[in-house]
Amino acid sequence: METETLTLKPVRKEELNKLAELYLKAYEGLESYAYTHPSDALAYMEWLYRRDPEGFLVLKDGERPVGFVAADANWFSKRARKRVGAVHELVVDPSYRGRGLGKMLLKKALEYFKSKGLDEAELWVGDENERAISLYRKEGFKEEGRYNYWVRMVKKL
Ligand SMILES: CC(C)(COP(=O)(O)OP(=O)(O)OC[C@H]1O[C@@H](n2cnc3c(N)ncnc32)[C@H](O)[C@@H]1OP(=O)(O)O)[C@@H](O)C(=O)NCCC(=O)NCCS
Repeated sequence: METETLTLKPVRKEELNKLAELYLKAYEGLESYAYTHPSDALAYMEWLYRRDPEGFLVLKDGERPVGFVAADANWFSKRARKRVGAVHELVVDPSYRGRGLGKMLLKKALEYFKSKGLDEAELWVGDENERAISLYRKEGFKEEGRYNYWVRMVKKL
């Protein structure tokens, strides 16, 4: 694949349908941690967009969305009892995985939080989602707390 064609931009509202499709494809095999109905997936994309449109970034190969990160700089963490940067979602198309794109998207989210003056990032990940957990650990996130089968991970910025 030609990397030159990849671009990263804030999501446009008209693209949320396509992102819902990408989300459903990306979570194949991990359904217990995801919405599986198309209308739920779309409602979730709309919620992510409402939370923080500026931090919702889409990676495109030409016109085709191949990954996204939903970073929310307006999140109040009940556990941290303060405003933190929340990485609500991170997704890479299965055929584009394993070449550093997930890591790059995560780094962009962290840079965005820093630009907003935040000093901590938080996310929740499914406890058996090894690919994601290993990515987050490599980027310096530490496990700190749990809720059912969700693991809370945090990183000081
Ligand atoms: C998690 C996800 C975004 C990773 O995307 P990616 O582009 O493949 O990730 P990268 O290529 O940047 O890999 C970064 C790290 O992830 C981990 N990783 C990636 N693929 C892995 C695999 N098959 N097995 C174990 N770890 C893996 C590794 O730690 C890797 O670091 P390395 O390259 O130094 O070995 C992607 O697998 C995905 O979309 N998963 C489904 C959605 C999801 O679970 N999102 C997380 C929600 S909390």
